Amino acid sequence: MKQYNIVVAGTGYVGLVAGVCFAEKGHMVTCVDTDENKVKLMESGVCPIYEQDLEELMQKNYKEGRLYYTTDYKSAYKNADAIFIGVGTPEQPDGSANLSYVATVSRQIAENIEKDCLVVVKSTVPIGTNDKVEQFIKDSLVHNVKVEVTSNPEFLAQGTAVRDTLQAKRIVIGTESKEAEKILKEIYEPFELPIVSVNRRSAEMIKYASNDFLALKISYMNDIANLCELVGANIEDVAKGMSYDPRIGAKFLNAGIGYGGSCFPKDTKALKYLAKQHGYKLKTVEAAVDVNAAQKVKLFKKASDRMITFHGLKVAVLGLTFKPGTDDLREAPSLDNIKLLLESGADQIYAYDPVGEDNFKKKYPTEINYVSTPEEALKGANICFIFTEWNEIKQIKPEDYKKLMKTPLVYDGRNIYSIDEMKKGGIEYYSIGR
Ligand SMILES: NC(=O)c1ccc[n+]([C@@H]2O[C@H](COP(=O)([O-])OP(=O)(O)OC[C@H]3O[C@@H](n4cnc5c(N)ncnc54)[C@H](O)[C@@H]3O)[C@@H](O)[C@H]2O)c1
Repeated sequence: MKQYNIVVAGTGYVGLVAGVCFAEKGHMVTCVDTDENKVKLMESGVCPIYEQDLEELMQKNYKEGRLYYTTDYKSAYKNADAIFIGVGTPEQPDGSANLSYVATVSRQIAENIEKDCLVVVKSTVPIGTNDKVEQFIKDSLVHNVKVEVTSNPEFLAQGTAVRDTLQAKRIVIGTESKEAEKILKEIYEPFELPIVSVNRRSAEMIKYASNDFLALKISYMNDIANLCELVGANIEDVAKGMSYDPRIGAKFLNAGIGYGGSCFPKDTKALKYLAKQHGYKLKTVEAAVDVNAAQKVKLFKKASDRMITFHGLKVAVLGLTFKPGTDDLREAPSLDNIKLLLESGADQIYAYDPVGEDNFKKKYPTEINYVSTPEEALKGANICFIFTEWNEIKQIKPEDYKKLMKTPLVYDGRNIYSIDEMKKGGIEYYSIGR
């Protein structure tokens, strides 16, 4: 294999995992971040995010001398063969993607590279952005070097990010020259994975089309789940029956309280925005966004139909993160529901999450009580909400709710339990689509 000197700009869920996996596959990698605390943490061997297997791989590759961390982007970019951009592209109030972080890194690259370099955009960016990044870098170059920008969207899922990278289903590369395609293929050669090589705009579109399709699949199942409730069908049985059809597939058929996280919400809105800019109405994606917005607060609505007040009641909240396996809270349904609970007078919320507490505290430092076991949250509670299907939460038995709670009333946004089991256990149980 040919060893490349790779720099990754941005050490979030995408950049750090990419950098660590490139090192694991034998490349020399420098991870650049502007956040000094993060860099210090990483240098001391601590992973700044919760992601399975990541810390072990960081420590191993650091020890073996293939992985460095720095805030000094000038030195890092100077002699890089390839710079992967993995900074955030968050949603703006109008739904469009905020490209200011990508622009900043592009400027920093242009002003500091001193040899020919491949710039690889890993961040999710609107179609046409790679063209603009290339032009911008070329316009701002300080040294007389050759730069080509390529697209290499990321498909990892938080919670399984390392596995998803090392054993990715496919690597998508978008290039405009044979030379750039050759370099990217060489970088990925040690991964021994299928590579889909297309032009830059198609690569950018593959990312949005994939994420938006998954969001649509979730919203579709939630829509059907809502109808199931009205007509007396059970969404779990319906999903099971559907899952045998290979054209549908067995994954992403679970109904619940909607998608969250840092990708589906913003990527659906960004594509909707992009379509609108081109005079096109992306009706399917718009529907997915609308269904999701309503779905996220469905559990609260169900509970407020049943309760006269939340004031003075002990409310147990199980799960805060947008899904299990991550400490990420971005767009988590728990945020929408807890906001509504607080607004409607809930003053004794006791929340448990195995890893999400610290991040949640940044938003709600004092308004809610944080506990370190599900049992503490449930003890003496009048009502319980389940927002994330962590194993620690799935392990709670129906009889535990009965035993621990003052009144065993459970609103389950993730359909963790069977209805019969909960009924047998004497629990008043509400879930989604059943
Ligand atoms: N999180 C996911 O599951 C996922 C999956 C696929 C694609 N993506 C896409 O990847 C991109 C990054 O997402 P993320 O979740 O990893 O973001 P993140 O917010 O977790 O991390 C971004 C990092 O970039 C750093 N940064 C900002 N400006 C910088 C600069 N000038 N130089 C160096 N570092 C800088 C920040 O300090 C931060 O550590 C986004 O476009 C996202 O849509 C994310």
